[in-house]
Amino acid sequence: MPAAYPITEHKYDVVVVGAGGAGLRATFGMAEAGLATACLTKVFPTRSHTVAAQGGMSAALGNMGPDDWRWHMYDTIKGSDWLGDQDAIEYMCREAIPAVIELEHYGVPFSRTEAGKIYQRPFGGMTTNFGEGIAQRTCAAADRTGHAILHTLYQQSLKHKAEFLIEYFAIDLVMDAEGVCRGVLAWDLADGSLHLFRAHQVVLATGGYGRSYFSCTSAHTCTGDGNGMVLRAGLPLQDMEFTQFHPTGIYGAGCLITEGVRGEGGYLTNSKGERFMERYAPNAKDLASRDVVSRSMTIEIREGRGVGADADHIHLHLEHLGADVINSRLPGIAESAEIFAGVDVTREPIPVLPTVHYNMGGIPTNIHGEVVNIKDGNPDSVIPGLMSIGEAACVSVHGANRLGSNSLLDLVVFGRAAAKRCAATIKPGMNHAPLAKGAVDGLLSHFDALRHANGSESTAKLRLDMQRTMQNYAAVFRTGDVLEEGIVKLKETFEGFKHVKVSDRSMKWNTDLVETLELENLLGCAMVSIAAAANRKESRGAHAREDYPERDDENWHKHTLTSLTDTGEVVFDYRPVHMYTLTDEVDVVPPKKRTY
Ligand code: FUM
Repeated sequence: MPAAYPITEHKYDVVVVGAGGAGLRATFGMAEAGLATACLTKVFPTRSHTVAAQGGMSAALGNMGPDDWRWHMYDTIKGSDWLGDQDAIEYMCREAIPAVIELEHYGVPFSRTEAGKIYQRPFGGMTTNFGEGIAQRTCAAADRTGHAILHTLYQQSLKHKAEFLIEYFAIDLVMDAEGVCRGVLAWDLADGSLHLFRAHQVVLATGGYGRSYFSCTSAHTCTGDGNGMVLRAGLPLQDMEFTQFHPTGIYGAGCLITEGVRGEGGYLTNSKGERFMERYAPNAKDLASRDVVSRSMTIEIREGRGVGADADHIHLHLEHLGADVINSRLPGIAESAEIFAGVDVTREPIPVLPTVHYNMGGIPTNIHGEVVNIKDGNPDSVIPGLMSIGEAACVSVHGANRLGSNSLLDLVVFGRAAAKRCAATIKPGMNHAPLAKGAVDGLLSHFDALRHANGSESTAKLRLDMQRTMQNYAAVFRTGDVLEEGIVKLKETFEGFKHVKVSDRSMKWNTDLVETLELENLLGCAMVSIAAAANRKESRGAHAREDYPERDDENWHKHTLTSLTDTGEVVFDYRPVHMYTLTDEVDVVPPKKRTY
C-alpha cells in the first residue's frame, strides 16, 4: 500500500493545523521565538472561520467605565454554570488585558472612543462588581472584529517568516507505540501529493464542529477535523454535550447577527410586541447569557407567541438606534440583514431564531495548550507532542456555556500561551526521534479505503441525515427519550458511512473525498456529542434537559470524557472540575443558583 503513495517528509519544530485566530496567534508567536513553524490549513488563512466573528473580544480594560479582571472571571465562571475550570478562567481573564494591548500594537484597527482608546461595548453576562451592573468590556472593531484580528495575525505571521501550507488537508495524527504524537499526515489538495510533517509539537487549532447540525452560524469548513483525528487516535474528547445556540441567527439562513446589536441597545420582541426578556431575566434582560436568551425565545415560540406566518421566529429591533449608530458600529449586520432577510434595519426588525454557534467541548488541555493524558490518572500528565487551542480544545474556560466575546479572547490568550510553552520547551532545530518502519501504514490504508469507497451511500445524503438528526434530537431543549431516539438514528448513519461511495478517484482537487473525510470527522463528533447529552442527567448551561430541569452538583459537577470505538460504541469517563485558582489574588467562586 505505502508504495502506491509516495510521501514527502518535512521536519519542523512545530506544526500548527488550522489558521484561524488561535492557529495564527500560535504560529506567529512560535515563529517570532525562532522556532521553525509550519501552519497547515485547508483554506486560505484569512478565509478561516474567525473572519466571521463580529461583536468583539472581552478584556477588562475599563476604557468605558470601571472594570476589573476579577469581575470578568466571576462572570465567566457563572456563565459556565460552574463547569469551567477556575484556574484556566483566572488565567484567561487576567491575560486578556496584555493580550488585547498586544493586538492593538500589532495593528488591529479597533474602533475608538472620543479619547482615542479602544471602544468597548456591553455583551451578555458581562457585569461590574460581581453581578451588580452592566460592564462595557467587549473590545470591538465595528462589527468585523474577527476579520480585523485575523488579517493582522496573518500579516504578523508572514513578517516572522512562518511557513504556510495552504489548501493542505490534515488526514491523521502520527502516534507512536508509546502514545507520543510524532507528526501529522496531510494531503496537498492542489497537486494531490501526500506529506508527513514531523514536529516536536503538533498543535490542533482546527475549530469547532458546527456543521454536524443543519442550521448553524459556522462556515462549511467547521467540520471538527482535529476532534475527529483525536478520536481516531483513541483519545477522549471532553464535555461534548454542551452546544451553544446563538439567540440571533437570521431566520431561514442561519447567518450570525451579532450580540453586539443588543449590546448597542437592540432588543427582542414576540408577536404581541412584548419585550419578553424582561420576564425571564429581569436584571440583564436582552443581555442575559446566550443559553438563557435562546431558551426564552424557544419558550415564546412554543407557547404560540412567535412572529411570522408560522409563528416560528422572533423579532430583533435596532431601528430605534438610528442610521448613525448602525452605520458606524454595526455596518456588517445591516448588510447581512439586507442580503439574507431582505430587511432594511433602519426601518424594520430582523427575523431571528436560535442557531447552533459554538462547541464548548473539545480536546482536553491544560492552560499551556498541552493535551491532557486522562488515562494516566495524574492530573499533570500530558500526551507528549500534542497540543490543542481555540474551539477545537476544551481547556475548559467556557464550561457548560460560553459568554459572547470570550471566544476571540480564548483564541488569542491560549494561542499565545501555546507559543510561549513551545518557546520554553523546544530548542530550535532539535533532532526528531526516529519513526518506526511502517508508522503511517495504517493511516494510509484508511485513507486509501475511503478514496476507493464504492458503496451505495452518498456523502451528501449521509451528511444531511446526520445534520437533521442533530438538529431535531439534540436541540435547545432535550429529553432522554428524544436523545435516545436520536442516538439510534445517528448510529444508522454511522453504519451507513461504512457503505459510502466516493465517485471521484483522483488525488487532485477531489472535493468528493475531502467532504467524505470531513464527514467522518463530523460523525465522530456528533456520535459522542449526542451520547454525552443523553448521559448527563441534569440541566447545566446550554444543556437543558426537560426531564432533569435542575442542575445537580452532587452527581454532575464533573467533566464528561468520551471516546469512540470503531464499532460506534461511546465509552465514558469523568474528571473533576478545577475548583482552585493559580494565585491568591482571587478566591474560588463556589457554585450558587444562576440568575440574570
Ligand atoms: O454575537 C457575536 O458577535 C458573537 C460573538 C461570540 O460568539 O463571541
